[in-house]
Amino acid sequence: MRRPLIAGNWKMFKTIPETVTTLTQLKKNVADVHHCEIAVCPPFTALAAAWGVLKGTNVHLGAQNCHWEEKGAYTGEVSVAMLADAGCKHVIAGHSERRQYFGETDESVNKRMFAALKGGLIPIVCIGETLQEREKGVTFSVLETQVKKGMAGLDARQSGQIVIAYEPVWAIGTGKTATPQQAEEVHAFIRKLYADIYGSLASENVRVLYGGSVKPENVSELMQQKNIDGGLVGGASLEAETFTKIIKYK
Ligand code: 13P
Repeated sequence: MRRPLIAGNWKMFKTIPETVTTLTQLKKNVADVHHCEIAVCPPFTALAAAWGVLKGTNVHLGAQNCHWEEKGAYTGEVSVAMLADAGCKHVIAGHSERRQYFGETDESVNKRMFAALKGGLIPIVCIGETLQEREKGVTFSVLETQVKKGMAGLDARQSGQIVIAYEPVWAIGTGKTATPQQAEEVHAFIRKLYADIYGSLASENVRVLYGGSVKPENVSELMQQKNIDGGLVGGASLEAETFTKIIKYK
């Protein structure tokens, strides 16, 4: 049985005091939650303070990106060891905003994914098609390339450990959610593709999250879909009360 994961991606929002206030409330709200894993990915500057609030609770800490080298002259980058040191358990790799604005490619996503695994973090590898690609009817081939290149080379253990996040770019921050049926169709495709590459055991174990305008109003129907194992939540994870409703989707 795959354990659902509800993760909040805070993107470039929140100062340290704002982080502490939100997470202090969130951890109280969800202390009684057992049906899913919970993670929050604040900006780098707030990670240490977030860990101060979350250590020992059922809310895990994640980061939004990592570099693939262990250390070195890479101005502006952050290593996996630094993130682990700050308390992180997860790290997002290849978010569409990084692909779109910062030149992230399937090759660099792959390097980040392996660095995370090597350093003991769980990578949340993001894939998803743009509106143009969906309208052209190439959604499945785009996703296939992203999975085949971005997630290439995993061994048997690693292939069940990573988390995949399907985030249709047209649904991110737009208020347009994929319908549960649309999302399920893609999730089922991803799981089948993953089985073809890594075998049925890995495919049964790998968690595939949905991301893109997840809200308290649509989360439970999304979570009822067979191949949706959680959510990667942007805007609606910024407020403790709203994110709590999403986490308590059951
Ligand atoms: P929204 O939930 O704001 O649409 O963002 C989704 C996302 O990009 C999470 O990584």
